[in-house]
Amino acid sequence: MNWNAAVLTVSDRSFRGERPDEGGPLISAMLKNAGYEVLRTAVVPDEQEEIARMLREWADAGDVRLILTTGGTGFSPRDVTPEATLSVCDRPTPGIPEAMRCASMAVTPRAMLSRAAAGIRSGTLIVNLPGSPKAAKENLESVLPTLDHGLQMLSGEQADCAKLKD
Ligand code: MTE
Repeated sequence: MNWNAAVLTVSDRSFRGERPDEGGPLISAMLKNAGYEVLRTAVVPDEQEEIARMLREWADAGDVRLILTTGGTGFSPRDVTPEATLSVCDRPTPGIPEAMRCASMAVTPRAMLSRAAAGIRSGTLIVNLPGSPKAAKENLESVLPTLDHGLQMLSGEQADCAKLKD
């Protein structure tokens, strides 16, 4: 199934132009490879209200079914992407970050330091990924094949849970 998606990079340094945004383009490329169309991309600073405003705007526009964020999931005082995400979601989807952390623990014990969250707003699934391109890629790889089934359910399509694909 082809879904429309958006990618939001959360980084003070990339927003100020001090560091090129590598994570956003990498995630967009992975989505395109998996058959998604990436309709929106942006870079915002690590400000909870700015992140929340962008997520609200994109989800409520109704043209993307999936929003991926990269950055701001760690412990530093300005890492507030999970708080912004959960503040705009109607329904949390904790299984997705649980699965990412579980898979990532096989790569590095530091995976437990990701506070990534995920949830649903207005029929759009929002999933946080870590900031480093390597970590974002590893986390997304672990859940991407399974998102299609969730997005089918979210869009009200018949999704046969008994049919095991992945
Ligand atoms: N997950 C994977 N698969 N690979 C990694 O290298 N890095 C971890 C974690 N998850 C990592 C990972 C580290 S060091 C941190 S601090 C958190 O993701 C949060 O990253 P962020 O602050 O860049 O969002």
